Order: sequence, then C-alpha cells, then structure tokens
Amino acid sequence: MQRRAMLKGCAAAVAVPLFAAGCDVLDGSAQAVDELAFDPGAFTMETKTVATFERDRKVTYRFYESVVYVAKPVDKAYQSLNISVPTEIDGAAVDASKAPILLSNSVGGYLSSSVTNRPPDDGGDRARNRDLALTAGYVVVEPGVRGRDLVAPDGTYFGVAPAAIVDLKAAVRYLRHNTGRVPGDTDRIVATGVSAGGALTALLAVSGDSRMYDRYLAELGAADASDAVFAAAPYCPVTDLEHADMAYEWNWGANPLRSGELDAAASRELSSAFTDYQASLGLQGRNGFGPLTSGNYGDYLVRTYLEPAATAYLTALPDADRSSYLAANTWITWAGDRAEFTWPGFLAHVGARQKGVPAFDAFDLSSPENNEFGLGTVKARHFTPFSLRRATGDPGAQLDSDLPEKISLMNPMFFLQQRNSTRAKHWWIRVGTKDTDASLTIVGNLAASLENLGDAVDAAMYWDAGHGSNEDPADFIAWIGKVTGYAG
Ligand code: DHB
Repeated sequence: MQRRAMLKGCAAAVAVPLFAAGCDVLDGSAQAVDELAFDPGAFTMETKTVATFERDRKVTYRFYESVVYVAKPVDKAYQSLNISVPTEIDGAAVDASKAPILLSNSVGGYLSSSVTNRPPDDGGDRARNRDLALTAGYVVVEPGVRGRDLVAPDGTYFGVAPAAIVDLKAAVRYLRHNTGRVPGDTDRIVATGVSAGGALTALLAVSGDSRMYDRYLAELGAADASDAVFAAAPYCPVTDLEHADMAYEWNWGANPLRSGELDAAASRELSSAFTDYQASLGLQGRNGFGPLTSGNYGDYLVRTYLEPAATAYLTALPDADRSSYLAANTWITWAGDRAEFTWPGFLAHVGARQKGVPAFDAFDLSSPENNEFGLGTVKARHFTPFSLRRATGDPGAQLDSDLPEKISLMNPMFFLQQRNSTRAKHWWIRVGTKDTDASLTIVGNLAASLENLGDAVDAAMYWDAGHGSNEDPADFIAWIGKVTGYAG
C-alpha cells in the first residue's frame, strides 16, 4: 500500500514517459529519474576532412558515442547510437541546434549493426552521405540495431524479426523524448539506409506511430514518444519479402545464373503468381500511366525509370564515349537527346542474375531472409506458403501461427496498403538498374504506393549501377535541406 502510494506520487511529480520512469528514494523523498535523459555534456570533440564535390572541407563536431537508447536493453552493444553535431565547418562556427537529423543505419543483410567500438570509418556510400551531411551542418545519428546473427548462450536468436525495426523505432523515440536536449530538430528526422537497411528505413518511415509494435517497444523500455520520421531515403530496399520471390521471377526470370541451372518450373509458377499480387495492390503508374499490372510493368519501368536513367548517363558522357557506348549497345536507340529501348532489350543487357529460385524463401532455408524469420532456437523458417509447401511436400502446410503478423511488421507495403497517415511524406528512393538482388518492381511499387497517397517522391534509378550504389550524394544532401525547409 505504502509502496504503491509512493510510486504514484513519484510518477505524478515529474512528467516522464511511461517506460522511462524510474523512482529513487533519497533521504526519504521520492524522486523521478528519467533513465532515458540525454546528457548534452557527454561528448568528445572530433575533426575530419571530407572531400566534397567542390573541395575538401574540414568539419569539427561534437561526438556522442554509444548512447544506450532503451531503458531495458537486451544488448547494449547494439541498442546504442552515436550522434555527431557539427560546430565548425572550414573554420566558421555553425549552430546545428535546429538542423535536420540524418538517421543513418548501417544494416546490411539483416545482420546486426553496432556503433560501439567499431572502426572509426566504415567507408562506402553510407559513410559518404553521413560525412556530406555533417559538412552541410546537419546532425548525424547512427543507430545500432539487433540483427538475425545474434545468438544468446542458450541458443536463442534474439535479433530476428521484428527486432531490427523495433530497435530503430526505439532509437527515434529516444531522440524525440529528448527534444530540446538532443541537438537538432527532432521533427525533421530523415531516415536512410541501404539494402536491408533501406528496407528498414522504408518500414520505419511508413509505420510511424503504429500501435502494432507497442508490446515489443514496452519490453525494451523504449521511450513513450512518437517514432514517426519526417522523411526517408531508402537505397535499394530489399523489402516486400513475402512477395519478393514472385516479383523476382517476374523481373529476372529469363536471366541466367552465372553458373548452374535454374528451376524453370518454380520460376514460371512464381512469376505467374505475381500477376494476382500486382493486381491486388491497385496501384496507378506515375504521369497518368494508368493501372500497374504484370502485363505493362516492363513498359512502365522502361518509360518511368530506365530510359531516363540511360538518358542521364549518356548525356553526361563525352561525345566519343557516348558513341562507343551506343556502338556496343545497339539495342539502345539514341533519339538525338534521349535513349529508347525495349524491356526485353534491357533484360538481356543486364545479363546474369544474382540469385537462384526462389530468390528469398530458399527451399533449403539458406537465405538471409529465412534466418530473419527464425524464432527462438530455430535459426531459419519459411515465410511463404509456396516454399513451405514445396520444401515439405505437404500441399496443405501452413506458416507458423506467429508469422503472418511478423511478416506484416516487416513490410512497408502492409502499412502503405493501410494508408497509415503518420508516415513520412518526403521520399528519396534510389536503386541501380543492374541491381539483381531484388526485383525492380520493389522500388516501383514502393514509389507508386507513396505517389498514389499523394506524398512527395523523388525516385530514380542509376544506369548500369549495381547493388548499394549512391551516385548523387550531393543532390541528396541538398534535397534534405529543401524538404526540411532548413536550406535553399
Ligand atoms: C541484402 C542483400 C540481399 O540480397 C538480401 O537478400 C538482403 C539484404 C543487403 O545487402 O543488405
């Protein structure tokens, strides 16, 4: 009785979030402790030189390292984030207190990602966007998250679905809970990531404030704050996983493997299942294209993404290089100032595909995604009835009963079909035209879904570029300034 009264008094004393509230009794008086309060003083000063498009820039920044973002972490090594806050750029002081926040995850392959004791610079395109964001005066937040590879001593896989998205949401809640303490504008969080990290980015941004994750967030002691983000920049998102096999065979079904045979019958069956799936989405193509169907999707991709990508690429080439590219690629017609070609011509040009059949829900449970949908001490499971039934030989086999909900919790298309209104409304979406890690319809459908809901979408493809490419980072940084109203 007495204890209850004390806790009640404590909770009433200070407005603290539900799960962040702790109570300490000092000298007989109850005091609220906000376990998730960010400490603005806990930084080191760092300096780095960043090569930008025009010149090298020297950035001095406050670095907050390995800040645990939940009150009850499962593993602090992953549930921590780093914050970089620029204070000086090329010797001139900058005030980033109201700057947009680039929330850049480093997830790849649905694996865990830690910001604790990692090498100072992991290089690559993600690091490029982060460094350029700093030189533009933005705050950069790098969240670690759990992933499918994490196994507890008792053999439990504790980073499988939906752990990664729950962690990302908890990180956003932490930032928003600390509005005013944490540098930057927490109403202008721009999420980004590549591949599986791009998938999680899209998912984070469309599922903002969904109640469906509450149970998982509560378990972690996540802050009771909004997890909606303002904008999102997924690069080559490997997503819509339960439909990814059919989409893949529709797209790359005629493309060979580098070596070995494809299961042609399975490929045909999956490809034909794509027709019903695509129709069920009820999407309209950009620029008055009309309904997007499996029958016209090739033409849609050519017209909307591929020809513009080829045109941009060829236009930027010196005349002699353009001529030799066109001479080597006679399937492209150069109509004075634009490239024209057919979908079959494009597919033949791409050549060998990255993945076998099925590309995601492997019959032998060997794919990253099989592991992502593991449970407890079971490392990998099927997540489509097609593969489950083929692998078990049981035509009536059903997915494990926990899976339908988890599959939805991992799929941005689920939230887009629900028209979740607390989604991000500003999107930067990119993928390379030679990225055969997933179907190009994954990006096509993500972008069309958002466009059909009225969101501002800058979606484009990089010509002849492979998985994970980022060819217009300076434009991305300028786009952040524009959509957030911070610059330009
Ligand atoms: C990634 C790549 C894949 O082909 C995949 O199936 C999942 C993730 C990645 O690069 O993150």
